[in-house]
Amino acid sequence: MKRTTQALGALGVVLFSASMGLADPVDDTLIINEETEIVTRTAAPAHISDALDEVMSGWLFRGAETRAMQADDFDNPGMIFVEQAEEKWASADGSEGKSCADCHGAPEEMAGVRPVYPKWNEAAGEVRTLEMQINDCRTTRMGADKWKYTGGDMVNMTALLASVSRGMPVDVAIDGPAQSTWEQGKELYYTRTGQLELSCANCHEDNYGRMIRADHLSQGQINGFPTYRLKNTKLNAVHSRFKGCIRDTRAETYDAGSPEFVALELYVASRGNGLGVEGPSVRN
Ligand code: HEC
Ligand code: HEC
Repeated sequence: MKRTTQALGALGVVLFSASMGLADPVDDTLIINEETEIVTRTAAPAHISDALDEVMSGWLFRGAETRAMQADDFDNPGMIFVEQAEEKWASADGSEGKSCADCHGAPEEMAGVRPVYPKWNEAAGEVRTLEMQINDCRTTRMGADKWKYTGGDMVNMTALLASVSRGMPVDVAIDGPAQSTWEQGKELYYTRTGQLELSCANCHEDNYGRMIRADHLSQGQINGFPTYRLKNTKLNAVHSRFKGCIRDTRAETYDAGSPEFVALELYVASRGNGLGVEGPSVRN
């Protein structure tokens, strides 16, 4: 175990309770619809192997009932939104009178796209999230309005695109032209923020497996996004989750779709390289 328990002083005592084995990730295997096996734990990618031995999906830190909901599409409430996105996929929108399907064919043709995003786009000279790419297709190819970054249409569409890649390993590129964005994301991940002066790493790297208030801390991986949360009974986008976590440290947060969050998403995604795509997952 390379995990270090950081000296958080009195704060640590208040926030985190000792694990005593009880709070460790469960020993369980995720097989969706009795056919698609998902890699929920695997050796850490080389670039974080000095911090973690293994990377683990948030699924392993949820209770038995929540885990079971995700294992069957009929029980997974997130799949309703995937169906809604299938309708949008096939509907023309914008001045060009085109649908996503007109250019891209069936949604299944997009298998393999989710695992490699965020991704460098050469023509645009920027790292793009899936949401940015979808809005680019809407504005430049369809003559349609942008969707709100974390709005219903957008999060549903990302759920559809994740669903057709379920089981494929996350594999974002962090070198070449994406490297400076990745480094910016890494810097944000380790920066302490807010009145609580906690970084992402203080919770998700140093203390995963422990209880924090009533919640079982995971590694904060994003291979399961978007996630259907039982708490707010809707699909949640990655950047919404980042916002919530930063607000919990009582800090000012960045906007969804901001360059800071795009960089943070690339970095966090890269920490899960090798984990299976799960979206839409179920969490509490
Ligand atoms: C008029 C044709 C057209 C329409 C309509 C269109 N796209 Fe695209 N889309 C493209 C082209 C061309 C590319 C590759 C462009 C690039 O790399 O910049 C692309 C790329 C993408 C990618 C990235 C694929 C990859 O391998 O990286 C995604 C995701 C995507 N589109 C989603 C959508 C969605 C969702 C819709 C409907 C809301 C849509 N597109 C509508 C033409 C279209
Ligand atoms: C005070 C501790 C704390 C900090 C700091 C924190 N988080 Fe979290 N985070 C949580 C808790 C609690 C949850 C819900 C339980 C879980 O999945 O770990 C959570 C959940 C998540 C999830 C959802 C994981 C899943 O599988 O659904 C992601 C992603 C995440 N955090 C990312 C981050 C990032 C990125 C940062 C830094 C900007 C951060 N968190 C900072 C406590 C924290």
